Amino acid sequence: MKVLLTGGSGDLGQMLCSSLTGMGHTPVVFDLRKPTLKTLEPAKNGLNVPKVEFIKGSIEKREELKPALEGIDIIVHIAAWHGIHEFRQEKTVYEFFDLNVSGTFNVFQAAAEANIKDIIFISSSSIEERFAIYGHSKVLGEEIARAYAHRHEMNVITLRPRAFIPPWNSKIYSNFIEWAKWFSRGAVHISDVAQAVIKSIEFLSLNTDRLKYNPVFLTVDGAYQYSDEDLAAWDLDGAGSSFRKYYNQFYDLAVEMGLDPTLKPKKLDISETSALLNYRPLYSMKTLLLELKMYGSAGPYADRKS
Ligand SMILES: NC(=O)c1ccc[n+]([C@@H]2O[C@H](COP(=O)([O-])OP(=O)(O)OC[C@H]3O[C@@H](n4cnc5c(N)ncnc54)[C@H](O)[C@@H]3O)[C@@H](O)[C@H]2O)c1
Repeated sequence: MKVLLTGGSGDLGQMLCSSLTGMGHTPVVFDLRKPTLKTLEPAKNGLNVPKVEFIKGSIEKREELKPALEGIDIIVHIAAWHGIHEFRQEKTVYEFFDLNVSGTFNVFQAAAEANIKDIIFISSSSIEERFAIYGHSKVLGEEIARAYAHRHEMNVITLRPRAFIPPWNSKIYSNFIEWAKWFSRGAVHISDVAQAVIKSIEFLSLNTDRLKYNPVFLTVDGAYQYSDEDLAAWDLDGAGSSFRKYYNQFYDLAVEMGLDPTLKPKKLDISETSALLNYRPLYSMKTLLLELKMYGSAGPYADRKS
């Protein structure tokens, strides 16, 4: 299958490129900038492995987007400014609207004109902050997705991940510990977001027309050892007791690395996502602590930067 990834040169897009080529699909990256992936280079062993195709263009420019959709089976619409751009005031409200709202409209309209029926739209759990600039832009994007699913009989899965900027994104996290502190508040690892996208692609290719007129909106969170009961009775046996229940052997390491074992993570309900897609997040606080133990404060991605 040919899978168009808008904004495919970003963190999520590049991770998806690796998974998709591994599965025998051809990712077509549509982005302002080229991905840095090795899969763009011709294979040296002469094997006919699928490669990543790159089309330079902007979803804000309809004349660039339209030809890129030729021969595409499914679209993963990723390109957007996100929460960090609002938090850091790096983008204006006009830029948010142009990319996240008009850009999303352009992608759905171009798909309708090209008779592409399967679309995965990357929204965000930030739709809860609907009066903020980013949250509002995603609420409007979701409305576009819903309207096109009905009007053009498209099969649309909208994924709502919570923040997933990876530890190797050095523009956001100066080191692994900084990322780990953020993750311990409750989060999803980018590899699990990629899993949700891949499972959405599989779902759409196996269930042709099942979602027609009935677009779904699915929350994407990470894996947790803590049950809902654990979180409701947080630290009832003293500060740090809930952490000790699952991670006792890592307690001293966590404190030494600057993590706060009394911090209660916020967990989101992913039951619908798990039921529909068989989504099973893998990366949890336990994975993080194991990585800290094995690799120390530099973490496992010390030589990887985006
Ligand atoms: N990263 C997070 O924490 C997070 C959390 C929830 C939802 N999301 C959503 O995930 C998506 C982005 O994820 P990411 O982390 O890979 O982002 P990213 O910033 O790493 O990548 C975005 C990509 O979009 C490209 N882009 C920008 N303008 C474009 C245009 N006009 N046309 C085509 N491409 C353009 C950029 O060049 C970049 O490669 C967004 O839809 C965002 O709202 C992100």
